[in-house]
Amino acid sequence: MFGKKDDKKITAEQVLAALSKVMDPDLHTDIVTLGMISDIKIDGGKVFFKLTLTTPACPVKEKLEQEAKSNVAAIPGVTEVEMESTANVSTRGKVAGREDVPGIKQIVAITSGKGGVGKTTVSINLAVALSQLGAKVGLLDADITGPNAPLMLGVDGYEPTTRDNKIVPAENYGVKCISMAFFVSNDTPVIWRGPMLDKAIRQFLRDVDWGELDYLIVDMPPGTGDAQLTMCQATNMAGGVVVTTPQGVACLDARKGVAMFQQMHVPVLGMIENMSYFVGPNGERIEIFGHGGGKDLASELEVEFLGEVPLETAVREGGDGGHPITDADGTAASSKAFLEIAQKLAAQVSIQARQPVAAGVGADAHGHAHEHGHSHGHSSHQHGPDCKH
Ligand SMILES: Nc1ncnc2c1ncn2[C@@H]1O[C@H](COP(=O)(O)OP(=O)(O)OP(=O)(O)O)[C@@H](O)[C@H]1O
Ligand SMILES: [Mg+2]
Repeated sequence: MFGKKDDKKITAEQVLAALSKVMDPDLHTDIVTLGMISDIKIDGGKVFFKLTLTTPACPVKEKLEQEAKSNVAAIPGVTEVEMESTANVSTRGKVAGREDVPGIKQIVAITSGKGGVGKTTVSINLAVALSQLGAKVGLLDADITGPNAPLMLGVDGYEPTTRDNKIVPAENYGVKCISMAFFVSNDTPVIWRGPMLDKAIRQFLRDVDWGELDYLIVDMPPGTGDAQLTMCQATNMAGGVVVTTPQGVACLDARKGVAMFQQMHVPVLGMIENMSYFVGPNGERIEIFGHGGGKDLASELEVEFLGEVPLETAVREGGDGGHPITDADGTAASSKAFLEIAQKLAAQVSIQARQPVAAGVGADAHGHAHEHGHSHGHSSHQHGPDCKH
């Protein structure tokens, strides 16, 4: 009736209560509990708050922003809502025995059991897409013996310099890149044995002036050999992505890719089906290799299906010409696919960042690292042959 004047005063609790009704559909938690809300300021009917997403590539960015704003606007007495939306990519929990790389928040390896399925193409286009979405991105070409990422990123002529004893990476389309291609001539085959590969990859992680990166995308060589083992052991990766093509044989190899990450206690962030279908000149969809193999396999293996990329001449031309399709033509079906996959991938990384460290990888009560299935009586070396084929 004669309510006190103070009754109408909007409180921070009211604002938080309104915002706590906004759920992040990927993290299955409300945005207040997720710690995304800060800096609430109330001035009469005016409310200000800051929303900090877990990635600038958040697939539900607009939805969360709109809901947050409208929920606060619906509080009685609120006349104006001002929201600052920003993003801060979270880092993964520490894993004993696996060192973080200072400055790099999340490392994602793009792999496949089989060669030629488009790992490099996918790595580069996802890196460009993440950069377009506002993330700081690097690309590590871990294909030491067949490095072709620089060609596809248009930096193949790059001659590395050093700064403060670190190698300065090449940069194009907002993506920093390091590759063995910068250090060997094109015509000389690089014949390296395991330990040397291992050393080169470790150097690319730690002796390169990456600066601050949200995501380092690692383009892996085909298979499940030494380079994969090094990446899994040398650092605390966010996880691995497995690329496959729709046909049965590639899917069989993709299975090995997934198994390798699981054995190494590295999260599988998801599967991508590349060369999924071909769009004919009249827009007709032609399924050259069949269709849906990747999706079926992902669901069978209970890993996320991140999406499918069509087979398009422009993708291959973008690769050969050093101008990735995602930058060259944002309207292409493949570019749209890469953008969507980049967002889904970023969401999966955010989800993983919230997961407790996988059993068997963390430190035990005495602070000792136990990984690579030691608890099952295997040594890490015994896993080597299992992972190769
Ligand atoms: N979606 C696509 N549409 C058209 N061409 C593609 C597509 N994806 C990849 N390609 C082409 O297929 C070839 C192989 O791709 P890419 O080099 O990316 O495969 P990869 O898996 O990295 O190979 P490797 O195992 O040798 O490292 C390249 O010529 C590339 O341009
Ligand atoms: Mg490749």
